[in-house]
Amino acid sequence: MATKALNSSPVFAPITIGSTKLKNRLVVSPMVTVFCDSDGFATEQYIAYHEAKAKGGWGLIITEDYAVDPLGRGFWTPGLWKDEQMEGHAKLTQRVHQYGTKIIAQIYHAGRQASYDVIEQQPVSASPIPCPVMGYIPHELTIPEIKEIVSKFGDTALRAKKCGFDGVEIHGAHGYLIAQFMSNYSNKRCDEYGGPIENRMRFPLEIISEIREKCGKDFTVTFRISGDEYVPGGRTIEETKLIATMLEQAGIDGIHVSAGVYGSTWAVIPPLNVTNGWIVDLAEEVKKVVNIPVITVGRINDPRMAETILASGKADLVAMGRGSLADPELPNKYAEGRYDDIRHCIGCQQGCLARLFNNEPIRCVVNPTLGFEYLNETKKAEISKKVTVVGGGPAGMEAARAAALAGHEVTLYEKSDRLGGQFGLAPIPPYKGSMTYLPSWLARQIKKLGVTIKLNTEYTSAIFDEEKPDVIIIATGSTPTKPPIPGINGANVVTAQDALAGKVTVGDKILVAGGGMIGCETATHFAMQGKQATIVELLPEIATDEEGTRREFLLNFIKEKNIQVLKGTKVMEINEKGAKLNKDEEIFDFDADTIILALGVKPNSALAKELESKTEVKVVGDAVKIRNVLDAVREGFLAGMNV
Ligand SMILES: Cc1cc2nc3c(=O)[nH]c(=O)nc-3n(C[C@H](O)[C@H](O)[C@H](O)COP(=O)(O)OP(=O)(O)OC[C@H]3O[C@@H](n4cnc5c(N)ncnc54)[C@H](O)[C@@H]3O)c2cc1C
Ligand SMILES: Cc1cc2nc3c(=O)[nH]c(=O)nc-3n(C[C@H](O)[C@H](O)[C@H](O)COP(=O)(O)O)c2cc1C
Ligand code: SF4
Repeated sequence: MATKALNSSPVFAPITIGSTKLKNRLVVSPMVTVFCDSDGFATEQYIAYHEAKAKGGWGLIITEDYAVDPLGRGFWTPGLWKDEQMEGHAKLTQRVHQYGTKIIAQIYHAGRQASYDVIEQQPVSASPIPCPVMGYIPHELTIPEIKEIVSKFGDTALRAKKCGFDGVEIHGAHGYLIAQFMSNYSNKRCDEYGGPIENRMRFPLEIISEIREKCGKDFTVTFRISGDEYVPGGRTIEETKLIATMLEQAGIDGIHVSAGVYGSTWAVIPPLNVTNGWIVDLAEEVKKVVNIPVITVGRINDPRMAETILASGKADLVAMGRGSLADPELPNKYAEGRYDDIRHCIGCQQGCLARLFNNEPIRCVVNPTLGFEYLNETKKAEISKKVTVVGGGPAGMEAARAAALAGHEVTLYEKSDRLGGQFGLAPIPPYKGSMTYLPSWLARQIKKLGVTIKLNTEYTSAIFDEEKPDVIIIATGSTPTKPPIPGINGANVVTAQDALAGKVTVGDKILVAGGGMIGCETATHFAMQGKQATIVELLPEIATDEEGTRREFLLNFIKEKNIQVLKGTKVMEINEKGAKLNKDEEIFDFDADTIILALGVKPNSALAKELESKTEVKVVGDAVKIRNVLDAVREGFLAGMNV
């Protein structure tokens, strides 16, 4: 694609927040990475991750939440609760500043949303009411304890200032301690910190004045707030607008409008089920009542959408969280007119949110080097080799891309007529459309890098003998399993893969055998087309392999579409009329026109085994072991880069 300078775009217009001048309007939203050590010290992994974004052209990075107190940690977050932590975090600001990017430290106390695994004691809150997700009854803070925490916010901000941060963002969003005080949802106090809005605002306003006192007027201070908490009894936008005016009067320099609390995690970090830019209107409402810059966020991962948001005047800056994980170079690529090269976040939650909730370092499905920046894995090979990749799924395409980037001569064989593999079917069920971004991006990149693509060609041992590549990478994926159920080979039986691919027609009444993610999603796909769908599952629950926020949407959709779910039920036999099922030892007939099998897949490993006797074979993705696209892409990258 021809290089077109886009520097006149509103996203590249400079702006000043407080005393901080930004070169553009693209902001990295705060995200816990679990890259710091268990005592909140910065690591090289943490610094290099931020440096990659600074190098990628972001105007402002708002870091993940720095705990003001070790008892206020919700994850293994960084901290600035003691002076010893400053040295590493000062290195971070120096490295980021080299590229003209500004960096603000988000500071927080998790309150009742603290993680027991991290703090190993009772959490604290405004009132002794457990967070519905964390489940621990918190200690109700006394007034002296509140004052002590206020002071710790000031001390942490001062340490941030001394580390070279351009400012701090007070984390008043997402149901953490400040939000716990601010909202009637969690604050049931009857003293001067509870009740009317001025009392509920006392804690954040005291924090702001403490920071101003310790850090001075010129230190930039922004505030993050949930515009709507999306929980019963939680705050909605009208009270948020009132709060915004109070915060502005108290002297904050900018306001960052997010959404949700832990009880509505889907709103804090919305999955692909939620539409792009879904809370821009909340930012617009806030912008109507304040005169300080307003930052919007939420499933905006396309710079052109950022541009239209800014052009419409709904916000002054656009933050991208997962968009920046998917592609740390997004601003530069856009500025250089390389829109096609931008990797978009697909909203899958699998590498980021799901791992974070396990307290594991985050990764990204579409960006295999996320979190590994410190290892400088992308490099040119000393000798260019002839590389063959078998399989055009995500693992194979990523292997081909990485090998071509490293300078090898690559040929990719795919036996079907298209690239994408099984993942090409993932976007078909409702809500999953954005998953197309990954296979289409990979397909574009490998073409651009000059990979020879041979579609409709099943690779065999005979082809290997003829072409004799220096290196062979096998990414042959998986095949649906067919357990020995009587009648399973009948004419009325199809696989979920064939049904989703439109290779077979299905009747009006379908029975989906297998209630995992693929089975449930297949049922929703056909329910959308007016079919009467039933899911039969042996286990007591369905879709347990689906990420939590996505599962919530899926289960609601199943209910909404009246899809019948038979849990704890076994398919005993398939016959012309449907199937014989067994629930609690009661055997009954179930009428269905088509039985769709979603009973799992098994690795397609025969070719790898055959070739192993002839050469060294690198096997990647589902062909090794059935997992998911996160592992498929990372393994493909490593295999291709290290041939
Ligand atoms: C409906 C559906 C939804 C899914 N949703 C998700 C999801 O939300 N998240 C997630 O993580 N995973 C999901 N998956 C699983 C995911 O698609 C797989 O884990 C992933 O595709 C594995 O990638 P792969 O490259 O290893 O294998 P595959 O994608 O299976 O690709 C293997 C490719 O190799 C080709 N091939 C095989 N043998 C040969 C040969 N001899 N010569 C040439 N070509 C050959 C095949 O035709 C195929 O194109 C979903 C799968 C399906 C079916
Ligand atoms: C892994 C992860 C960690 C997050 N950690 C924080 C955090 O520390 N502080 C915060 O305010 N928001 C946090 N968020 C929320 C993001 O800042 C952002 O608001 C949210 O992901 C929606 O924006 P996006 O669609 O651009 O990702 C986190 C999000 C993710 C994915
Ligand atoms: S793992 Fe998925 S949701 Fe998370 S940043 Fe990457 S693509 Fe987006």
